[in-house]
Amino acid sequence: MSKKYHIHTFGCQMNVHDSEKIAGIFSESGFNGSEDSKDADVIVLNTCSIREKAEQKFFSELGRLKKIKQQKPDLKIAVAGCIAQQKGKEIFRKYPYVDFIFGPNNIDNLQKWIENGNSQKTAVLENPEYHTKILPMKRVGRVKAWVSIMYGCNNFCAYCIVPYTRGRERSRSPEDICKEIEALANQGFVEVTLLGQNVNSYGKTLEENIDFPDLLSTIHDIEKIQRIRFVTSHPRDFSEKLINTMKDLPKVCKHLHLPVQSGSDSVLKAMNRGYTYNEYKKKIDLLKESIPDVAITSDIIAGFPGETEEDFEQTMTALSEIEYDGIFSFKYSRRPGTKALDMPDHIDEDIKSRRLSDILKLQESVTFRKNKALEGESLEILVESKSGTDPDKMTGRTGNNKIINFYGDNEDIGKIIQVKIIKARMHSLDGEKI
Ligand code: SAH
Ligand code: SF4
Ligand code: F3S
Repeated sequence: MSKKYHIHTFGCQMNVHDSEKIAGIFSESGFNGSEDSKDADVIVLNTCSIREKAEQKFFSELGRLKKIKQQKPDLKIAVAGCIAQQKGKEIFRKYPYVDFIFGPNNIDNLQKWIENGNSQKTAVLENPEYHTKILPMKRVGRVKAWVSIMYGCNNFCAYCIVPYTRGRERSRSPEDICKEIEALANQGFVEVTLLGQNVNSYGKTLEENIDFPDLLSTIHDIEKIQRIRFVTSHPRDFSEKLINTMKDLPKVCKHLHLPVQSGSDSVLKAMNRGYTYNEYKKKIDLLKESIPDVAITSDIIAGFPGETEEDFEQTMTALSEIEYDGIFSFKYSRRPGTKALDMPDHIDEDIKSRRLSDILKLQESVTFRKNKALEGESLEILVESKSGTDPDKMTGRTGNNKIINFYGDNEDIGKIIQVKIIKARMHSLDGEKI
């Protein structure tokens, strides 16, 4: 009987996609996937350290696995992802029942670990060629796929752990990216989401002269791919060329995730973001002018060290002025090793909570108002899957990233159809097929 693996993924899209690579390697090595960790011969925890809470979730899960391993000594436990990269040694010391630790730039080493009978202990090494490796992948779903276009980050925003866990920025070659997308198109995928921490600096590490808008144009020529999305854009590097490319290429979805983080210039400076609010706002204005139906989303941090009431009010003003379609907002979380940790004037937890809740309340009213304005409209959506909440409904997305649930059937999956919006909700819309 073939062995079974189980992957528990924490964190962002990069990790979700990395888990598809981890699953691909297990599959190629003859393992079967298991939804239930109790059946598994190998459990992989793919970890995230972006905020303290994410880290705590992992450590409590790792603690729970100790008992399971005591009852089942042959069980192998592997720790992957961002915490593995940063805290590999500490994990081995405190949790000796862990068998293998590998970082986000060493997923290829999993194969060796399996082949060598699980004898290797860690793989959190420099792996300068990682971005040239072609890894097998076992993808979730059959309509839309993630595609890594670059790894790492060079920005060192003062609060952020990512440059320490994912290493320096490296772009994959356009040839490797296009080959991967062509193969996806041949397998029937119709949408790709290009992944990188800062896609706007794509190409800087390559010898050839290519930037992110050029890459989009090349991918746009791949037949059968109908939609192209990308995350994340850094405001400093977001260019007029990209605005024009988004406007001119019909397959590029009219949605931009452009995290502002704060509306205050002094906070932005302390965060090392490299732009002022006005510079950011000018880019947004130009974007809205060029592409009127564009949807814009953002990330906001509440209570960065030194953030005054006035700074916070400037963030609230930014939210009212820009009217995002949606935001992700978080309380600032201390990350050992980052610059912000040693900054003066850390904000009390209750003030952070109050600011976060004010931010979310304001944004909810904007999001709901925007959704409400769509009632009665007919919109084009790509049908993705069955709805998670109602078994009789299907779910799809507009190009500008609105989620629509409607009565339909499995045959709709993968098709682009028209729906009429009948009811707005906070995070989705109810529609009917027309
Ligand atoms: N590369 C992307 C996203 C990185 S992490 C970008 O630059 O936008 C996703 C989000 O997590 C960030 O945009 C930021 O808002 C948030 N984040 C990162 N570190 C954080 C911290 N220490 N505390 C709170 N939020 C944080
Ligand atoms: Fe973190 Fe900043 Fe890099 Fe984004 S751009 S991953 S927030 S350091
Ligand atoms: Fe992603 Fe978390 Fe790492 S957000 S990049 S998995 S720290």
